Amino acid sequence: MPEVTASAPGRVNLLGEHTDYQGGFVLPTAIPQRATVGLGRNGSSTHVLYSANLEKTLRVAVGEVGTEFAPYLTGCLQLSGVTEGLNIHISSEVPSGGLSSSAALEVATLRALRELYGLELDDVALALRGVQVEHEFVGVKCGVMDQLASSLANTRTLLLVDTRSLERRAVPFPAGAEVLVMDSGVPRRLAESGYNERRTQVEEAARLLGVRELRDVTDISVVETLPSPLKERARHVISENARVLEGLEADAAQFGQLMNATHASLRDDYAVSHPLVDDLVALLQAQPDVFGARITGAGFGGAVVALVREGTAAAVGTAVLADYGTLGKVVVP
Ligand code: GLA
Repeated sequence: MPEVTASAPGRVNLLGEHTDYQGGFVLPTAIPQRATVGLGRNGSSTHVLYSANLEKTLRVAVGEVGTEFAPYLTGCLQLSGVTEGLNIHISSEVPSGGLSSSAALEVATLRALRELYGLELDDVALALRGVQVEHEFVGVKCGVMDQLASSLANTRTLLLVDTRSLERRAVPFPAGAEVLVMDSGVPRRLAESGYNERRTQVEEAARLLGVRELRDVTDISVVETLPSPLKERARHVISENARVLEGLEADAAQFGQLMNATHASLRDDYAVSHPLVDDLVALLQAQPDVFGARITGAGFGGAVVALVREGTAAAVGTAVLADYGTLGKVVVP
């Protein structure tokens, strides 16, 4: 039996995609699905890591990083100063692909470690430690959104975060609307390398524009001075930031239009969508009860999110799934 058990939710982001590593704004909410981690001391100098989803055990010596799913856990252990062997049991309901399954795992693990060792770690510091795990152990140069959302968000409100100052506040969902999330079934290939490449590109764009981060650009027309694809990449980040701020004042219909614009921008300027995901988004956007729809998370496949009329999410999802299934295209695993 584990000595402690903790869990943390995945998240879905409604507006503010690929802005969180340029000091921008994000507007995610927690999803009901959670990752759960149980752990306890095993009296040896080896960690025994078991994934219930994969039905797989990994053994990693204390101080080593390991492979497969181990770095998500050993990163948390090393950054928390753990020097003894632990048994760790992980299981997760968070689907992989755009819903922060890895952040949920990290936050759940860090919560369990905080409890086991009585670590002095507030919820923001805990989230930032999860980000550090991604950077130093997993190799993804992610921003701060996912871990902050997993650590701080709830399912009843949106969480506005200024990713530069880390100021945040709860924002109500647009009245009369609810959220529908669908898995496109498109596996996220090359997501890590593509993600890090986008990050390098927008850092270069900021450097060429002479700003600390693209958050600081006030006149979007300056992107015209950049060479492609930096121009398009920067245009996405700057326009997306503005959409988050507009979304705070929007009713459901306007909010949905902003989500549709985000999708076009992620597809055309940021180039992180996929033709099948575009099909699924288009099917959603054509539904009368859908205010707006878009790819969510890092992209390159994975999940889509729609804002739909309250009470219709299940029916919309079922209708769209039937059409999506008859598109007759083959998803290469
Ligand atoms: C991933 C990263 C986040 C964020 C999103 C895109 O989920 O982990 O930091 O950059 O992509 O918005």
